Amino acid sequence: MRIVRLGTRRDTTRLGGEIARILEPGDLALFSGDLGAGKTFLARAVARALGVPADVAIASPTFTLVQEYETPRGTLAHADLYRLRDEDHAKTAMEIARLGLRERRGDGAIVLVEWGEGFSDELGGDVALDVSLALDGAERVATLRGDKADRLAPHT
Ligand SMILES: Nc1ncnc2c1ncn2[C@@H]1O[C@H](COP(=O)(O)OP(=O)(O)O)[C@@H](O)[C@H]1O
Ligand SMILES: [Mg+2]
Repeated sequence: MRIVRLGTRRDTTRLGGEIARILEPGDLALFSGDLGAGKTFLARAVARALGVPADVAIASPTFTLVQEYETPRGTLAHADLYRLRDEDHAKTAMEIARLGLRERRGDGAIVLVEWGEGFSDELGGDVALDVSLALDGAERVATLRGDKADRLAPHT
């Protein structure tokens, strides 16, 4: 487990670059945390660091559920499952499975998911990175877990 303090947006952008460095084709990264914690901001930073060109807008997938980008490092899929989450866990699981993100990983896409916690099986399992973002006063704190968390540079 790694804990990274994100005092400024610049820190979050730097963390995004570090996450991009360690992600490989087929990897799944989950971003959790309350509304406004910085999940989309971090996903955007990862996307830019993977090479999504500056003239390609990276919108929040709040309504589209999934946005895909072509990058020099392969396809990136960015999803936000908030709108699918329902008290009926089985129904939510089925709807998430239907998005086909597991299959996109099989095709070699890197998949970043907001609000995906609890549904890693439907997303193909093996979470490379689980990033939990929390507000701490004016600051944010990222807690990183998962198979690749210990590959982050020591001073990230
Ligand atoms: N250190 C920081 N890291 C990330 N976002 C920050 C930070 N400081 C301020 N912000 C702001 O917080 C907001 C986070 O929004 P967003 O990423 O959409 O949240 P979420 O996707 O978790 O709901 C953005 O408006 C961003 O500019
Ligand atoms: Mg978001």
